Amino acid sequence: MARDANPKDGRPRGATSARRGGKPRKGFRSALAAPQGSVHAWGLQDEAALLRQAWHRYAEPVSGRYTHDFHPYAARMHPDVCGMLIEAFSEAGGWVVDPFCGSGTVAVEARAAGRRFAGNDLHPLAVRLSGLKSDVRTPASLRHFEARATHIARSANGRVTRQETEVPPIDDDEARWYAPHTRQELAVLWSFIERERDPWAQEAFRLAFSAILVKCSLQRSETDPKRVETRMSPGMPLRLFEHRCLTLARGLAELSRAAQRAGGAVGAEEVDTPPAALSCGDGLTWGLGWQRPGTLVLTSPPYAGYYDYVEHHNRRLAWLGINVDDMQQGERFSRREQHASSWAEESRALLMSLAAAAGPGGRVLLWIGDPLLGGEIVPARRALADAAHAAGLRWVAGVSQNAPRAREQRREEHVFLLAPRDAARAA
Ligand SMILES: C[S@@+](CC[C@H](N)C(=O)[O-])C[C@H]1O[C@@H](n2cnc3c(N)ncnc32)[C@H](O)[C@@H]1O
Repeated sequence: MARDANPKDGRPRGATSARRGGKPRKGFRSALAAPQGSVHAWGLQDEAALLRQAWHRYAEPVSGRYTHDFHPYAARMHPDVCGMLIEAFSEAGGWVVDPFCGSGTVAVEARAAGRRFAGNDLHPLAVRLSGLKSDVRTPASLRHFEARATHIARSANGRVTRQETEVPPIDDDEARWYAPHTRQELAVLWSFIERERDPWAQEAFRLAFSAILVKCSLQRSETDPKRVETRMSPGMPLRLFEHRCLTLARGLAELSRAAQRAGGAVGAEEVDTPPAALSCGDGLTWGLGWQRPGTLVLTSPPYAGYYDYVEHHNRRLAWLGINVDDMQQGERFSRREQHASSWAEESRALLMSLAAAAGPGGRVLLWIGDPLLGGEIVPARRALADAAHAAGLRWVAGVSQNAPRAREQRREEHVFLLAPRDAARAA
């Protein structure tokens, strides 16, 4: 997972795109360049080799293809590694699922590869983003969307220049997170978005708006809620918004072409793989209701002791009208520190659910970091051993590496390949 996010835009360190000329950003630390260069793969030879091959892409900058650059949702997977895992471990037209889908990296890569996708997350924003980012659209509808985005940005600019005002849909505490002129620009922009008549475009505008909020605010970064006094030049929020919309349209056009090639076109502008099936709920039980043998589960639940996903999206909730009560109650693993007993209970439920989702002949690719349990970093495979056994899963192969964080060299990140016991024997 591209965990080592840049401050401010939340994209992975070293993340880059064709727009930026393909050069890694300054400060990028390749995971493979960590001391002792300790990437190790183990298990069945062919599977271990495939995992190692995919993992090597992790050291390279993110390609920026499709819609992966659209939103700075934290802790996204490295999309290129994800794409290689899908190609290697699932069949064309088969099911790929992610019960902790976040902002939809697996959804996008699965659709691009012509797989069917089903996903789930407890955070409503994650579910909305996964749907939008993996949507296959016609060229005509994307051209229309681009034109509307440019029109909205220009119209909002006109109103801001004439010093016309709007009341933002946020309370006073939330309003203090913005410099007054930035808040006013955002409020005017929001009023145009709320008047948009095309429901698909309106959702896309809302989520594009949500993508720029932290950058426009006085919050230090996506993952650091400290307040800092920064300046943003007038007009910048509108330019950022338009740019996000155009990035989305370009990414969706690229994704739609890939899905067409992979899934087989049924008409000039349609593909025959269905849209992502998405739900908002607890990933620890989601798999129990999934009954399609031969499914590839590719997922990355929160790493215990790393992030707090509720806090991450505080700036976005009021504007988008998102209620996170369920998330606050049900968020798993991501508290700063976790007790070994709750980890054991939750990881048991997790692996039961993933085994059920994979079904006979299916496989589980679990992308996970060593948990921090009771103040101690515990090797993930050891921490999950009992839970995997109880869930009827066998370890097929794995790849592991030091997490790319200078202060936590002992902490490793892994992709484990597990299979329901019978399928593993046959492998
Ligand atoms: C590591 S992120 C997944 C990122 C995703 N793979 C991507 O590339 O964007 C983990 C996700 O788990 C979600 N989550 C936390 N607790 C959950 C639960 N109980 N059920 C489902 N999702 C949960 C968080 O909202 C977060 O989106």
